Amino acid sequence: MTYRIALNFEDGATRFIDCNDGEKVLDAAYRNKINLPMDCSDGVCGTCKCHCEQGGYDLGDEYIEDALTEDEAEQGFVLTCQMVVSSDCVISVPVAASACKLAPATMEAELVAAERLSENRVRLSVKATQGALPTFLPGQYVNLSIPGLDGVHRSYSFSSLPGAEVATFLIRNVDGGAMGSYLERARPGDRMTLHGPLGSFYLREPKRPILMIAGGTGVAPMLSMLEVLAEQDMGGQSVHLIYGAHDQADLVEIERLDALKTRIPGLTVVSTCSGADNAHPVKGRVTDHIGADRLNGGDVDVYLCGPPEMVESVRGAVGDVANLYFEKFIPAQPEELAA
Ligand SMILES: Cc1cc2nc3c(=O)[nH]c(=O)nc-3n(C[C@H](O)[C@H](O)[C@H](O)COP(=O)(O)OP(=O)(O)OC[C@H]3O[C@@H](n4cnc5c(N)ncnc54)[C@H](O)[C@@H]3O)c2cc1C
Ligand code: FES
Repeated sequence: MTYRIALNFEDGATRFIDCNDGEKVLDAAYRNKINLPMDCSDGVCGTCKCHCEQGGYDLGDEYIEDALTEDEAEQGFVLTCQMVVSSDCVISVPVAASACKLAPATMEAELVAAERLSENRVRLSVKATQGALPTFLPGQYVNLSIPGLDGVHRSYSFSSLPGAEVATFLIRNVDGGAMGSYLERARPGDRMTLHGPLGSFYLREPKRPILMIAGGTGVAPMLSMLEVLAEQDMGGQSVHLIYGAHDQADLVEIERLDALKTRIPGLTVVSTCSGADNAHPVKGRVTDHIGADRLNGGDVDVYLCGPPEMVESVRGAVGDVANLYFEKFIPAQPEELAA
């Protein structure tokens, strides 16, 4: 038995695929030569999240809450890597059809520099060993292999302009972490592989005011988006970034944001610290700084990125808005830690 699935893409394009009984939708799409957004294919990352508009399906119980919350599941959101359909279905895919044509690629790269911006923040710069780095949409991420640790990789969002010869990443130095430990011994010339680009968190055409909310290194994809916005006509739209960290020292890349302010006329930035004993003039969590004026009566595109718990609390705080795009920096799961 096969079922007919209509995939409605963000740009209005629709593609129909046949899905076999018991087959996961992600696999069926791939068999039909459509590369839907995906990363782990294990119900962990949430990259494959779509919305089912119509039809019956089962998601099983092997995915984690950070990938798809109970609320989202109730609202009809699905993980296509887990979804087995029981009837014909209509599924909205939150990316443009053109973004699904290219399968993520794996390429060799080498470390250019690992600069410590604060005790817990490192800017990693990499370039391709041959040819150019993969093209990506501003906001997307790659899986980076960790030199010296066979088969171990972690996900990082580009903080640089797409197409640049050297790509940068902003990394939180997690004590004792696989990447955190590598950062201590990183040397220019270290070889690594990049697998991607991945993710449906990327900048859309500015059609209304933009509100960006970043927690910690969640500012990385915002920097990439702002680099792109600095090079295009904003059509009079404004961008407001709320950037939060626990400690003042971890509010890195402020000079770069200042430079971007001079290039993007409508850009305003508020940085805030949530930790006690901070000399930073603005205090509190990012949610304390989302004023009603910034939400523009809901007519706003919100881009939100950071640790899972921060993303969830901001989602609750912004309420109904025209568009809410988010990325959670979900830590590697126990089975990946030892991989
Ligand atoms: C789509 C995506 C994009 C990401 N982009 C970025 C990015 O641009 N910059 C960035 O810094 N990170 C990003 N991350 C997180 C990143 O992939 C790693 O999880 C993180 O850097 C920790 O890796 P590690 O190898 O140092 O620690 P691991 O070896 O993975 O973990 C070591 C130990 O620390 C715990 N741990 C890991 N992270 C945390 C945390 N945040 N809080 C508390 N405990 C933790 C683990 O559970 C484990 O016990 C992203 C994650 C995803 C899913
Ligand atoms: S690809 Fe489906 S949750 Fe990761």
